[in-house]
Amino acid sequence: MPNKWFETVAVAQRRAKQRLPKSVYSALTAGSEKGLSSRDNLDSFDELGFAPHVAGNATNRSMSTTVMGQSISMPVIISPTGVQAVHPEGELAVARAAANRGVAMGLSSFASRSIEEVCEVNSQVLFQLYWSGDRETMVARLERARRAGAQGVILTLDWSFSNGRDWGSPWIPDKIDAKAVLRLAPEVLARPRWLWSFARTGHLPTLTTPNMARPGEAPPTFFGAYYEWMQSSLPSWEDVAWLRAQWSGPFMVKGVSRVDDAKRVVDLGASALSVSNHGGNNLDGTPAPIRVLSTICDAVGDQVEVLLDGGVRRGSDVVKALALGARAVMIGRAYLWGLAAGGQAGVENVLDVLRGGIDSAMLGLGKANIDEFVPGDLVVPNGFFRSLGT
Ligand SMILES: Cc1cc2nc3c(=O)[nH]c(=O)nc-3n(C[C@H](O)[C@H](O)[C@H](O)COP(=O)(O)O)c2cc1C
Repeated sequence: MPNKWFETVAVAQRRAKQRLPKSVYSALTAGSEKGLSSRDNLDSFDELGFAPHVAGNATNRSMSTTVMGQSISMPVIISPTGVQAVHPEGELAVARAAANRGVAMGLSSFASRSIEEVCEVNSQVLFQLYWSGDRETMVARLERARRAGAQGVILTLDWSFSNGRDWGSPWIPDKIDAKAVLRLAPEVLARPRWLWSFARTGHLPTLTTPNMARPGEAPPTFFGAYYEWMQSSLPSWEDVAWLRAQWSGPFMVKGVSRVDDAKRVVDLGASALSVSNHGGNNLDGTPAPIRVLSTICDAVGDQVEVLLDGGVRRGSDVVKALALGARAVMIGRAYLWGLAAGGQAGVENVLDVLRGGIDSAMLGLGKANIDEFVPGDLVVPNGFFRSLGT
């Protein structure tokens, strides 16, 4: 019996690659256009080093914190990701794992499980939405999330509808019908374990988005929901301020790269922002978030909670972001690899890997608490930082 536990996220990714049909795996790897941003998200973390202490280090170390009013056991949050056909339990497995490990979870409005189902197994859900549909529709979605028990809202603004990829976009069917089954058969049959994991539940992946359903209507397919979003007028900053005013609780704007945008986010009364380029799936050439984090923290870090997402694969990456001013990070692909590799246990494994890595970096850097990290804990090469906007 092979050891199911994996020791790093890279191992989880290798297992995910072995387990998933090619199209599904590459839909997760993604990265738009030439993949400049998705590559930079990873490379930039590797450029940073540590300046460790070797004696006088702290025996007792604490990494719990709060983000958007939520007490979390470590400075890591599940970033929202759409339709998780990676595993039959999808978002439910992620939600259970996050609850077991004491971390909050962003749930995508493009998720394959409803906000009601997910809030039932996790009491720290942050509902993510895009600027999609008219104002009435968006208010109805917020109202539904509030009723279900969502603790906060994440508004993701950094999508530029880029659809070309040099490596070739995977074919994703609108729904799993006979035509789709026939077309996907060769690659799915090459991954019998993935097929069996669905077959034994009696369900094929449903590519629908229940959180995008209009009241009284059936959930639209992923592409149906995407079409609504594409047809929607683009928001002004006044529109964003209006939406923020519709939600009385914690509110995050996700996808910020520029200092001037960060200031706008503060002005409209958000409680948090995430420095992010959507995992490199967006406007290719946008720098890695870790390169722009410091200037944003310097400008607004005392007025809003600043998070980072993009490229986090290790506990030491989390610590690098904290040392440059982030309050916490959000993870995307890391937990998706865990989900693909081992369902709920795989996501828990990923969270444990990150926790172990954070603790190890705390020990090496002589910290008793995660709010003690400073830029001087890092070795930063010349020319590393980028400053966008003023
Ligand atoms: C397959 C996939 C789907 C995603 N779907 C969403 C989404 O529905 N909403 C959203 O705000 N971000 C979405 N994201 C972006 C993530 O929330 C996050 O910003 C990104 O994955 C962070 O980079 P990382 O994967 O390197 O951790 C998605 C990312 C991936 C890889």
